[in-house]
Amino acid sequence: MSIFNVNPVTVDDYRRLAHKRLPRFLFDYLDGGANAETTLASNTSDFDQYRLLQRVMRNVDGVDTSTTLAGFDAAMPVALAPVGMAGMYARRGETQGARAAQSIGIPFTTSTLGICPVEEIVRATGEPIWFQLYMLRDRDVVQTLLARAQAAGCTTLVFTVDLAVAGMRLRDYRNGMLGTNIASKVSKLAQLVSSPRWVMDVALKGKPHTIGNLSDVVPDPDDLNVYKAFIDSQFDPSVTWNDIAWLRSIWPGKILIKGVMEVDDARAAVDVGADGVVVSNHGGRQLDSVASSIAKLPAIAQAVGAQAEVYLDSGVRSGIDVVKALALGARGVLIGRPWIYAMAGAGESGVANLLSTMRNEIATAMALAGVTRIEDITPDLLERTLDPVRV
Ligand SMILES: Cc1cc2nc3c(=O)[nH]c(=O)nc-3n(C[C@H](O)[C@H](O)[C@H](O)COP(=O)(O)O)c2cc1C
Repeated sequence: MSIFNVNPVTVDDYRRLAHKRLPRFLFDYLDGGANAETTLASNTSDFDQYRLLQRVMRNVDGVDTSTTLAGFDAAMPVALAPVGMAGMYARRGETQGARAAQSIGIPFTTSTLGICPVEEIVRATGEPIWFQLYMLRDRDVVQTLLARAQAAGCTTLVFTVDLAVAGMRLRDYRNGMLGTNIASKVSKLAQLVSSPRWVMDVALKGKPHTIGNLSDVVPDPDDLNVYKAFIDSQFDPSVTWNDIAWLRSIWPGKILIKGVMEVDDARAAVDVGADGVVVSNHGGRQLDSVASSIAKLPAIAQAVGAQAEVYLDSGVRSGIDVVKALALGARGVLIGRPWIYAMAGAGESGVANLLSTMRNEIATAMALAGVTRIEDITPDLLERTLDPVRV
């Protein structure tokens, strides 16, 4: 930010602030993707394959961006995506994110791997949130976790299915985050010394840094090697659709299956009783070289959109992107990195400002494309660019 550009506005503005404030290994963990980061790049750039239509003289007085997302009355078709260890990016980060989401009126999703336990987050807002689950080998732990989430008042279960094993995020190896040798330790120390505001705000005042929902199962998450070892040993790669039938039998609320990229898988999710699917490649952090989410959305929306709610995440960076996703068949979108960049860079008010800008972008784009209600955002608001389209 220069002296003439004092207010962060876009996701990219907040990303720059986060870059300044976070220790390098944390910024890289947030910002990076798997392997060569090909999918990470196409998640955002593929939105450019579509153009909106500018339609005029249609009486667009009173644009309304509100909608319902899995039964939640939302001020706009956006939810905050689950981000593990959000409380390492800002002090008690999950509570800050939940309060910002509440201030605008959209759902907040907490991760299985959040720093704050689900009860702490619900206490911060007094409102129901969404709970994201990873399947663990020990089903008793899963059952206890879901009972806690339900007792705390979580309405929707977001079951993530694209992390059978953790993706290869090469930045984590390069910057020493996952190393135990002397060079890694020295590098990490140097990164901490150059991030004094983060050290004060999060490292010292943001404790405890346990994985709040699993504090008696994960020993010492302050050491990220231990956290990775937990994922490698406890995440269950043998999960199948049968396990969703089991989840369906013990979770009375809505279930969204997150991480679906193929039509057959979307159909299977609906067949086992899911209320919706999230078309997602985990923000390009899992299988590198898989297509972008936006490229996969239209076929999935067409196949299951009549029976289930279809959401999209990975690569949404503006209200314009939200309108494009809706025009291609999504009921709503989730955003991951954007809210964490804003929170790491400017705290809860940064997230609230970013969300407010996004809502204004959606409303403005709707008016200039000639529609006033969310349900009027249909495929005929879009045209494709002249570039070859890969869908
Ligand atoms: C640092 C980080 C941690 C994440 N942790 C989780 C998680 O614990 N559970 C989950 O389902 N998805 C997790 N995700 C994926 C997000 O929920 C979401 O799918 C992704 O960030 C969307 O892409 P975007 O960042 O381009 O918006 C994580 C993403 C990031 C960047």
